[in-house]
Amino acid sequence: MTSMLSRLFQTAFFALALLILGAALPAAAQQPTSVNPTAQSVKEAQLLEALKPGEPISGRASIPNKDAANLIQAGRDWRAYNQETLPRLGMLALLGTFVALVLFYLIRGKIRIDAGSSSQKILRFAAFERFVHWLTATSFIMLAVTGANVTFGKSVLLPVVGPEAFSAWASFAKIIHNYVGFAFMAGVGFTFLIWVKDNIPDRTDIRWFLAGGGLLSKGKHPPAKRFNGGQKIVFWSVVLGGAMMSLSGWHLLFPTVEGMAEAQWHATIHGTIAFIMTALIIAHIYIGSVGMEGAIDAMASGEVDLNWAKEHHSIWVKEEQERKSGSRISGAAQPAE
Ligand code: HEM
Repeated sequence: MTSMLSRLFQTAFFALALLILGAALPAAAQQPTSVNPTAQSVKEAQLLEALKPGEPISGRASIPNKDAANLIQAGRDWRAYNQETLPRLGMLALLGTFVALVLFYLIRGKIRIDAGSSSQKILRFAAFERFVHWLTATSFIMLAVTGANVTFGKSVLLPVVGPEAFSAWASFAKIIHNYVGFAFMAGVGFTFLIWVKDNIPDRTDIRWFLAGGGLLSKGKHPPAKRFNGGQKIVFWSVVLGGAMMSLSGWHLLFPTVEGMAEAQWHATIHGTIAFIMTALIIAHIYIGSVGMEGAIDAMASGEVDLNWAKEHHSIWVKEEQERKSGSRISGAAQPAE
């Protein structure tokens, strides 16, 4: 009986030993004894300490893609800017402009035509000029909305609409952004060509700015040519800002052609200028529509009220009347001075 019991114990002991050995074998196979877990090469903290701003930690790669040789790419600063600083600055710029415009509206109200409407109109923008304006404007607004989705979509929209709807919208927005960019580039190019001659800064602009553009007080309108100082700022911002957006956007369409660091640089320029331009354009849209009586006619029918033109662009009206001897002015034969 005793020997039977001792045999049973022996068999059970060997079975247990085999089981333990069997379970341990695969783990031992995964962990070759040649790996030293305390070796310098596996200490990520040391690698991150060695990482200098703007410089990647690189090895050698025999394929043409130089980014493939980077063990760690110095993109942490860019990521912090893109994911934290830019959204904050962007939100500040957009909300700041919005609040400033609401305050301006509450204090100054809608800028009326001081002399009231006249029965006469003067042609301000020809059909092609209006076409170029609306090409640039519609494409810019589409780009601003779909571009803002890249910065704010995940944090603002995704929690509200859910992953399915957000994913469908974001994929659509990306395609719109990539293709509409070309319409915007064309718009910016034409804007420069048709209006550069009227947007060279001169002394009239200094006087216009010193008088606050006549925007702050009723009845006082500093003289202005076809475009006043404020409009020249809008023009050059659209042309230069638009050119930089186009160039950086072009690079972002093909981000792997140059390299990771270059793509990050272009993305930084693109995002930063986008918010500056959008803030400025929000102010432009306000003053070109609800903020000023009679302004929108210039970009709708192309003809503005003569009193509006005299108040906001007195030098231009005189030049037009002299040049055309009143032939562009419809209504009465000669406009009242
Ligand atoms: C719904 C949106 C918009 C409205 C209602 C609007 C309205 C106007 C109006 C009424 C003018 C003529 C002002 C005048 O007669 O003196 C104008 C001019 C102009 N617009 Fe717009 N606009 C809009 C969007 C945009 C956008 C998105 C851009 C460019 C990104 C743009 C660029 C320009 C430029 C460069 C001028 C000439 C300079 C100036 O007048 O400031 N506009 N706009």
